[in-house]
Amino acid sequence: MKKLERNAKMTVTEMQSRIIEEIQEWKKKRNAILLAHNYQLPEIQDIADVLGDSLSLARATVNTSADVIVFCGVHFMAETAAILNPEKTVLLPDLKAGCSLAVSITADELRAWKAEHPNAVVVAYVNTTAEVKAESDYCCTSSNAVDIVRSIPEDQEILFLPDMFLGSFVKNETGRENMHIWMGECHVHAGIAPDQVEGVLSQHPEAELLVHPECGCSTSGMYLMSEDVLPKNKTHILSTGNMLKHSKNSQAAEFIVATEVGIIHQMQKQNPKKQFIPANPKAVCSFMKMITLEKVLAALKENKHVIEVPAEIAEKAKLSIERMVSVG
Ligand code: 13P
Ligand code: SF4
Repeated sequence: MKKLERNAKMTVTEMQSRIIEEIQEWKKKRNAILLAHNYQLPEIQDIADVLGDSLSLARATVNTSADVIVFCGVHFMAETAAILNPEKTVLLPDLKAGCSLAVSITADELRAWKAEHPNAVVVAYVNTTAEVKAESDYCCTSSNAVDIVRSIPEDQEILFLPDMFLGSFVKNETGRENMHIWMGECHVHAGIAPDQVEGVLSQHPEAELLVHPECGCSTSGMYLMSEDVLPKNKTHILSTGNMLKHSKNSQAAEFIVATEVGIIHQMQKQNPKKQFIPANPKAVCSFMKMITLEKVLAALKENKHVIEVPAEIAEKAKLSIERMVSVG
């Protein structure tokens, strides 16, 4: 690709505007749609046709008439889009945009776990590879994990994977004893520790606390709520999409945000008079930040990187993903 040269007099904003103009032209030329996750860089969020959490983005892929889906997110998200839409071209602007949680269980490890529990059904978080989804019965995201588990008969043994904090949250919410949880974690969310949250909370005692269920602090958060250390009416364990909805609808003026910090751009944009404080300002997902305006433009111009899933894996994985898309 011919690189856009930045001449000496051009500011970064002017340069970005030129790239954005080109992206818009290429989107029209290719009948493309741009989907972005809530953790993307601000400039990517600002040009997205659809911005959202994993569930809303998966749904957006099936509700579009676009021929090309540019997925500004991470690999498993683009893979899920490709499985749901084999007739569309799904592009991931940087192939290295992976996910530490998705690689915490392989299909072989899952097969071995299933062999230990031959009567169990498998509920896999969407943050998994297509091969793992193909070995699973149900897929879920953070916004419908509780509903998916509730939809499974109570006496049915469940293997829940791969996130241990989300698993504990679901187990606690559903009161389910027959649920085994894989000990995987996301390095970004596991790094948001209970003492950090308590420290920020002591400086902002009036703030509401918004916690993603993947967080290292979510398990202790549930315990602290049950012990009345954290106020139940001011602590909310939510997916990124529901965090955005809640911060819009709440009357509170301050929020402590326990998730990847990229979401704060959107919260602040939607609620300019409210204050959003990260529980841990270092909670940055470097995979999500790999998608830049330059790479989005290159993806559209050069048709890269096309995400395809082998047909036999896609066919098996599709059933569990369709269950996910239909619930919640
Ligand atoms: P959400 O579905 O809540 O957006 O979460 C996706 C994710 O990767 C969290 O780390
Ligand atoms: Fe994966 Fe964690 Fe990044 Fe989400 S924040 S994409 S779970 S590494």
